[in-house]
Amino acid sequence: MNDLEELVADATLAFADAPTPAELENAKARFLGKAGRVTELMKGLGALSHDEKKSRGAEINQTKQRIEAALQARRQSLANDELNAQLRAEALDVSLPGRHRGTGGLHPVSRTMERIEAIFGSMGFDVADGPEIEDDWYNFTALNTPEDHPARSMHDTFYVDTRSERAGHLLRTHTSPMQVRYAVQHVKRHAGLDPMPEIRVIAPGRTYRVDSDATHSPMFHQCEGLWIGEDVSFKDLKAVFADFFRNLFETDDLQIRFRPSFFPFTEPSAEVDIAFASGPLKGQWLEVAGSGQVHPNVVRNFGLDPERYIGFAFGMGPDRLTMLRYGVNDLRLFYEGDMRFLSQFK
Ligand code: PHE
Repeated sequence: MNDLEELVADATLAFADAPTPAELENAKARFLGKAGRVTELMKGLGALSHDEKKSRGAEINQTKQRIEAALQARRQSLANDELNAQLRAEALDVSLPGRHRGTGGLHPVSRTMERIEAIFGSMGFDVADGPEIEDDWYNFTALNTPEDHPARSMHDTFYVDTRSERAGHLLRTHTSPMQVRYAVQHVKRHAGLDPMPEIRVIAPGRTYRVDSDATHSPMFHQCEGLWIGEDVSFKDLKAVFADFFRNLFETDDLQIRFRPSFFPFTEPSAEVDIAFASGPLKGQWLEVAGSGQVHPNVVRNFGLDPERYIGFAFGMGPDRLTMLRYGVNDLRLFYEGDMRFLSQFK
């Protein structure tokens, strides 16, 4: 190998050894720079004869071109490496499954509540909403519940801390306080109208009692109903219930019975039972509501004359009705937030 071949080989090796573009430029200087080896060779030409200068000069030029080509090739390869490294770093794994966005759905109890509202709405009932933190007057006293009634005890009712500024308040134990709240507003709104337009309202919502097992949750739902006019009787209550339950359960094969009972705010009072003519619960009497003719003391607390205005009230449990609608056997399933259970109702 002559000295020029050797120079090309040295340069190619030096370029290949340079791991970065900056080091490659340093290597380039050693061969092609002002003090580089090619320049040194050029300087040596001065000492040669004219002919020798010509042929040696041409050889050196060729050598220089080959070294420049090797440099260019190495530059390109370093640039490729850099690009590949960058592509690798920014790689998107398109085989990853996409992020799942679950679709929501209404809670089964909310579905039942909406259905209850729609059915009663179609029968001309207003839908009212009221506070869950009540006072003693609306929850008990106005509803003719005596001071010593067991429902008022700490075992049954959640009271707000007696030292707090809301002392005297409690978590409503039923939706019945809404009878009084709504009726009082209604009477005020229609003052001077004779006769007063009928009160027809339902009030669905959350209620609370100190109670917890497979069929009782400390928080549960109720839906109150109230119909007051000059001539509203148990006959109307039975018609309303028959219509309502047949609509709710989408069957005409359903029996309804009233069973005598007691509530302080109604007299007479009755539990309402239904029985299906077919299906898994066929022939079984199921308690679905409490009801009764509104007690004269309560009608008086509405601001009305009980000798003139009369009617009925009822309270039913949307949780219980949801269990019957969907065949759910444990109330607690509704409140555990388990998606495997809840997603079945979407
Ligand atoms: N408030 C009663 C309860 O919680 C139900 C009821 C409402 C009964 C209206 C009669 C009239 O059990």
